[in-house]
Order: sequence, then C-alpha cells, then structure tokens
Amino acid sequence: MESGFSQKLIKWYTINKRNLPWRHEKNAYKIWLSEIILQQTQVVQGLSYYIKFTQHFPDIKSLANAPEDSVLKLWQGLGYYSRARNLHAAAKFVVEKHRGKFPKTFSEIRELKGVGDYTAAAIASFAYNLPHAVVDGNVYRVLSRVFGIETPIDSSRAKKEFQQLADELLDKKNPATYNQAIMEFGSQYCKPQNPDCENCVLKEKCFAFQNNRVAELPIKAKKTKIKNRYFNYVVLMDKHKNVLINKRAENDIWRGLYEFYLIESEQELNTEQVLKLKEIKTLCKSRINLTQVSKAYKHILSHQHLYAKFYVLNVPFAFKKTQTFISLKNLENLAFPRLIEKFLEDKKL
Ligand code: ADE
Repeated sequence: MESGFSQKLIKWYTINKRNLPWRHEKNAYKIWLSEIILQQTQVVQGLSYYIKFTQHFPDIKSLANAPEDSVLKLWQGLGYYSRARNLHAAAKFVVEKHRGKFPKTFSEIRELKGVGDYTAAAIASFAYNLPHAVVDGNVYRVLSRVFGIETPIDSSRAKKEFQQLADELLDKKNPATYNQAIMEFGSQYCKPQNPDCENCVLKEKCFAFQNNRVAELPIKAKKTKIKNRYFNYVVLMDKHKNVLINKRAENDIWRGLYEFYLIESEQELNTEQVLKLKEIKTLCKSRINLTQVSKAYKHILSHQHLYAKFYVLNVPFAFKKTQTFISLKNLENLAFPRLIEKFLEDKKL
C-alpha cells in the first residue's frame, strides 16, 4: 500500500540526509551502540559519545570486559544512565550466550537489555536489512500527520495501530533506507513546531497540511507530570582533603553514579536551615566550618526538576575507614551526574 509515500520519503532522504558515521556501518555492534546513545539524545550531543565509545570499546568483548564504573564514566553527561548499565549487561550477555557474536534475528536482538521494539527494528534493518519497521516519536508524528491518525500516541492502542501502519508502509526491498528516511524526515523536516509544509514533498497527500491540522497532530492525551525535588549537597572535606561520597544505589535517578552527601528536603532550605539539620550535626560532630555555599542550580530531567545547592564544609578530623570517601585529586575519575559536574566546573574545591 501507499508505495508513493515510501518512494517520496526515500527520494527526499537520498538528497537531504546528514552524513553520520553509523550510516556507513554494517557492524551490528556499532549500530546497536549508536541506537542506544540516540534513544533519548539528539544527534549533535550523541555524536562525540559514539566516537568515544567506538574508540574505547572497538568490539563487544572489550565493552563486556570493562568494569561498569568505567562505562558509566564514559557515559557521563549523557543522562538516562540505565542505558549505560543495560548496554554493559547486554554486552556481557552476548559474550556469554552468543559467544561474542552479535545476534542476527529480530527476536534475539529484542531480548537484549535496553532494546525495545524500536531499537530492535532499527538494528535488524540497518545491520541485516531485515524487514522490520521502526516506530519512534518521529514516526508517530509523520504518520499521524500524513494519514490523519487521531489516536493519542500515549494510549495503549497507539503502539499497535502505528506499528501496523508502519509495517505496511515499509519498503520491503529497502528496509534500512526506508527506516533511516522516515526518522530523518521526522527529525529534520516534519518537526514538532512550525515545519516548512509549503515546500514539503508530501504536502499533496498530507492530511494535516490539507486540513490545516499540523499543529494539532500528533495528539497526546496526558500531560507529563513534573515533580520538584530539593537537593542539599554537603561537600564534606576532612583534614586530609578527602571528600565524603556516595554511590547511588536506590531505584531512583542516577543509579551507579557518585555524588556528595545528599540531604533531600521537601522544600527549598536556606543556609541556616541546612546547618541546623541533624544529619549535619552527625557528620560534623558540632564542629561546623562552612567554607562555601554554591549558587542555586536548577537541573531539568524529563519528569523531575531538581533544585540544588552545595555546601562545602571542612572538618578538622579524618574520615573513618568505614566511610566512603575519595581524595580531592581523584574526584575527577568518578562518574558524576551532570549537575555535580557543573558544580565542579564552577567551583575550585
Ligand atoms: N535517531 C535514532 N536513530 C537514528 C539514526 N540512525 N540516525 C539519526 N538519528 C537517529
């Protein structure tokens, strides 16, 4: 059906595509890396990480053999860190279960941690030219506009409905090119805001353009709920210039990354209120020597807004062996969330 649609897209892509390194790749491992990096990251930001990762870990065995901390360190700044943990776990799995050979079927690729339907279809088509259509946010937007689909994209029906249409539209002879084309078209041309519809190659057949509905499609039913959180970081330094740190372990943001001693509060606190907290008394044994208070940082994540301040406190004693700390000069070897990296860039400790 609608082969005119696919052929128009592919023609547009051939002329307008960006020259990106993974588009010249047939190595499934590298394609997988690029797709995991690009899952929640724009190409401009992901590109340098793709280059770093492929240089550092040229094949899946080198990634599997690396310590998780070094994978997280390389991922630092990219966000959504579960991607890095899953990437590492999946590399180990491929080495153990597939003798280090990247799987070659859609269902085996789909079994890898961190690989959903979209990523499995992308890898299967790009690496092996298998006929699986990708459906991501870009594809939802293009299809809902061109074909006038009003099903809310965050409803349970949407996934099946869009996948079915995408599979029908897929150019079975050129699945790799078709998939790249629809994603490129969605991200570069059929943009969320103010796309250039007048010059679009699909404008004659586009429902949204013909019916003046471009700004309304795709439809999203629910508004994303944003939670505000207040982070009071205590940068506690002992007499040997060791800093107290914590490796985040809970099922929360940034699992596996390091941070300073964190006191989370229900509301924003001022310096006086922070210094009165019982945690501070326990840490400092009443010998509080506040040397710096940072500016207020606002850090935006997809579902959370973090408001953070850093309090640098010096204590005249040495940390106990049972506490987790690191010397100031080795701080940069740890993987920190971008928020803490920003503080470290701003301040000289
Ligand atoms: N986003 C996700 N996959 C991509 C790809 N292969 N090229 C460009 N952007 C992408």
